[in-house]
Amino acid sequence: MSDLPERISLREVGPRDGLQNEAPVPTAGKVELIDALSRTGVGRIEAVSFVSPKAIPSMADAAEVWAAIERTDAVRWSALVPNLRGAQRALDAGFREIEVVVSASDTHNRKNVNRSTEESLDQIAGLLQAAHDAGATCQVIVSTAFGCPYEGDVPVRRVLDVAGRALADGADGISYGDTTGMATPSRVTALVGQTRSAFPDAALNLHFHNTRGTGLANVLAALQLGVTDFDASVGGLGGCPYAPGATGNVCTEDLVHMVEDMGVATGVDLEAMLTAAREAERLVGRTLPSQVLRAGPRSRLTPQ
Ligand code: COA
Ligand code: ZN
Repeated sequence: MSDLPERISLREVGPRDGLQNEAPVPTAGKVELIDALSRTGVGRIEAVSFVSPKAIPSMADAAEVWAAIERTDAVRWSALVPNLRGAQRALDAGFREIEVVVSASDTHNRKNVNRSTEESLDQIAGLLQAAHDAGATCQVIVSTAFGCPYEGDVPVRRVLDVAGRALADGADGISYGDTTGMATPSRVTALVGQTRSAFPDAALNLHFHNTRGTGLANVLAALQLGVTDFDASVGGLGGCPYAPGATGNVCTEDLVHMVEDMGVATGVDLEAMLTAAREAERLVGRTLPSQVLRAGPRSRLTPQ
């Protein structure tokens, strides 16, 4: 274990990836959840997305949510966007860190953003320029990087081509999205390894869904390769409206609980994250997949 990174950076995506897949919850509830998350010590929060309200009704109040939260400087805030219009909305709202999404699989990209992967990439080139002109950074999220629910396996070569195009156009980093939980540790090792060879200097984030129970195993495989940047969602909230059967992201408190015990610092106060997870359950009105929330941390003893 001694070769694991000493510290990783977590981006909490529950308020966006999680809540986009739920029936719309009241703006005030979203604000309470985000405020609870910003008190956990987590370094980054993807707070909202600026997408078409027809496509994702539950993100229609993104600007209102962003205006109402306590914007502590201790957190790096970001917003997800699908197109130039979304980027302009995010920049106008004051975001200086955005994520733009494109799927490596053409079929998923058409379902998600109604255009081909190449058309998205063409638009992203201009979007990156607009973000940089506004003094913002922009990460390009390559969705379905480990497989597509419609097309099946996505070749590593294809994922590298999409990432390479985005980097050549000025992306400040790449995230690989395992949109429907099709990654396994050996696929993570292969894609991360080839990415490091092809783009040694590129900042790389990984975004796993725990749809088939491989989320934490995938995180561990990536940690062993020195990846230090992961997405996770409180309670395991999440899904993708255009990916049948998709379930939540790898759960933040489960990830923190595992890696901290292995000597990898996250900056997250686990008890505060459990409080936020209870808040998330109240908000969506159902039991979330978090396991540490059910069982308690391993350090919490049962009275004899
Ligand atoms: N924010 C708000 N409204 C937007 C928008 C944005 N980022 N982009 C487009 N719109 C509006 C347009 O103004 C137009 O409105 P109108 O019908 O009132 O004139 C309408 O949406 C259609 O615009 P168009 O450019 O033709 O978009 P589209 O219908 O082809 O949809 C997307 C494309 C990208 C806007 C839409 O598919 C989308 O928002 N997808 C997001 C999916 C998502 O978030 N998935 C989960 C995250 S991975
Ligand atoms: Zn996701």
